[in-house]
Amino acid sequence: MTAKKTVHLVAGARPNFMKIAPLYHELKKRPWCAPVLIHTGQHYDLGMSDVFFRDLNLPAPDFSLGIGGGSHGEQLGKVVMAYETMLTETCPDLVTVVGDVNATAACTLAAKKLNIPVAHVEAGLRSRDRMMPEEINRVVTDSIFDLHLTPSEDADANLRAENVPASCIHFVGNIMIDSLVAMAPVVRAQAHPFPQVVDRPYAIATFHRPANVDDAANLRLLVEGLVALAHKIAIIFPLHPRTRQRLHAAGLLVALEQAPGMHLSDPLGYADFMRCLFGAALVVTDSGGVQEETTYLGIPCFTARPSTERPITISLGTNVLISVSDIGSLPISATRRDKIAPLPLWDGKTASRIATVFERYLADGAPLRQG
Ligand code: UD1
Ligand code: UDP
Repeated sequence: MTAKKTVHLVAGARPNFMKIAPLYHELKKRPWCAPVLIHTGQHYDLGMSDVFFRDLNLPAPDFSLGIGGGSHGEQLGKVVMAYETMLTETCPDLVTVVGDVNATAACTLAAKKLNIPVAHVEAGLRSRDRMMPEEINRVVTDSIFDLHLTPSEDADANLRAENVPASCIHFVGNIMIDSLVAMAPVVRAQAHPFPQVVDRPYAIATFHRPANVDDAANLRLLVEGLVALAHKIAIIFPLHPRTRQRLHAAGLLVALEQAPGMHLSDPLGYADFMRCLFGAALVVTDSGGVQEETTYLGIPCFTARPSTERPITISLGTNVLISVSDIGSLPISATRRDKIAPLPLWDGKTASRIATVFERYLADGAPLRQG
């Protein structure tokens, strides 16, 4: 019997886990493949990491690098060093990274320096805002991947414009939607984590981008906007650790805690967050992934950013870009679109398409990208 191909699946931060899970489950079913889970440890709190493994039925990682927080340089450097050591010991046939976080960039660099092929799930997205740390990760790493698995056709166009060879680009659809589709029946059957809001319209807020929460003036505007909005509609606001730290340091946490209609919490696990999202009247956010989930569900989404790397959520979805100073006057009468047209290949079958691309690529001898 031929030996199974070893495929590393790298995750480091919250938005990675729901992208890795469907692929892990799909590859596990394929007789030719031995998927190996790697966790860099960029996110490490129970509520930012472990709960996602539980909710998404993932086993504990095969390898945990335990890198933790730190400056960008510190995180990148430590992951490159630790993952390089692991790669030399384990020699996988293919490394798979997802999204645009520091773990994505660092593991790509480590693998490519050892001439190990790397596949990128969610390739080709561009905000064209190089003040975003994620944009730097995307631009740097998309120039060296061997396989680009794209979620939408705008991503293919971006890669072609950057001279990525067409043979390396595979439009496979949106893998986050695989997790949403797989989890929906379980999630809909479970109790709502905020029973006090279920009988009336409510909004969800999520914020963690440095441009909004590390900037003192924008953080103040954000808090003022959310407090004003909470007078009009109940808000569930799970606080990302970065955001909680910044609010606390700026003395602004108390204003949110005391706002009538505001329901603050720790970060929610995937199932709890989805349960809230399924019933939400609107969402105000600066998340990347939440723009896509609301688009899929037809929920009005207001994204406090100057640009988005996911333009399809605006052109075909429910997303609108705003400034933090707009939040207090958002239209709470915006209605959900229950009959949104399906987005191409956002169908819950992306992991299966990726597994097929991998199988063919590895059978062809995993050619490294040239040029
Ligand atoms: C990271 C990603 C961002 C992604 C976000 C998702 C990069 C450059 N940024 O941003 O793209 O949208 O994750 O949530 O990779 N912290 C904890 N506990 C944790 C994790 C973080 O307390 O489990 C605190 C630490 O003090 C840390 C800070 O949050 O320094 C920021 O974490 P970090 O991973 O550096 O950046 P994020 O803002 O989470
Ligand atoms: N999410 C979650 N709990 C929360 C906030 C977000 O499970 O309290 C999920 C969300 O549904 C989406 C993912 O986390 O699937 C997005 O991660 P995040 O916003 O942290 O990162 P980004 O997408 O901005 O990189």
